[in-house]
Amino acid sequence: MKRLDGKTALITGAARGIGLAFAKAYVAEGARVAIADIDIARAQSAASEIGDAAMAVEMNVAEQDSIDNAVACTVDQFGQIDILINNAAVFSAAPITEIDRADYQRVFDINVSGTLFTLQAVARHMIDANVKGRIINLASQAGRRGEPLVAVYCASKAAVISLTQSAGLNLIAHGINVNAIAPGVVDGEHWDGVDAFFAKYENKKPGQKKREVASAVPFGRMGRAEDLTGMAVFLASDEAEYIVAQTYNVDGGNWMS
Ligand SMILES: NC(=O)c1ccc[n+]([C@@H]2O[C@H](COP(=O)([O-])OP(=O)(O)OC[C@H]3O[C@@H](n4cnc5c(N)ncnc54)[C@H](O)[C@@H]3O)[C@@H](O)[C@H]2O)c1
Repeated sequence: MKRLDGKTALITGAARGIGLAFAKAYVAEGARVAIADIDIARAQSAASEIGDAAMAVEMNVAEQDSIDNAVACTVDQFGQIDILINNAAVFSAAPITEIDRADYQRVFDINVSGTLFTLQAVARHMIDANVKGRIINLASQAGRRGEPLVAVYCASKAAVISLTQSAGLNLIAHGINVNAIAPGVVDGEHWDGVDAFFAKYENKKPGQKKREVASAVPFGRMGRAEDLTGMAVFLASDEAEYIVAQTYNVDGGNWMS
């Protein structure tokens, strides 16, 4: 018996990186997964690599019609959604004096509104279908503390932690557990972009910021997407039934509350 046998999951932003690692780990534990991403070509190739237990669905979490369509397609294909991982997000960095209103709006539309309204759509489905579901949001260590050049992304992830608390407290009345994972620094394409921002704003060489953050992690290296899958499986499993509205750091020791 696997830990997620018979379960179905919708994972946003799962065409690559951490979301893709979650999709593979869930399938290995017996679940079927919908790989939902704005990059549909990459979502399709990820789904075919995983096999019959995975489907790809085009989804822009910043658009309500797209959220509704992705939820409906997943329910059509799988019958119901037992687990949602709100993983899709974008990064942005700039000094306070250079923050651009349109970029702020883009980050909040995806990271905050995208999380809230995907959570809402799936929660409505779970309540209608009487599914005692699990919702897992991707926060960040960036949501625990501001950073001088990362105000907008940090604020968006602080909002995810707060939404996790409010939604967790509200939805547990329906038997739906909402929790979050706060990764630290996880190597991959996301961090290639972060490294490029710091190369620009702190005059660093490409790769230098990654080496600096890696050496500051108490565990001794940057995280890998696979370092997060244990927590994602646990929070979706029967063992986590009594866990409500929490955000767990999985970061090699970077943060302690
Ligand atoms: N990598 C890290 O160091 C790190 C640290 C802390 C938190 N996180 C969080 O973990 C999650 C996954 O991070 P990652 O490193 O895998 O990022 P990533 O950039 O590699 O992947 C993000 C995925 O989201 C998709 N996406 C972007 N905008 C979208 C939209 N509007 N609608 C649907 N999909 C969209 C992208 O196409 C991509 O496949 C994010 O929430 C991120 O903020 C990452």
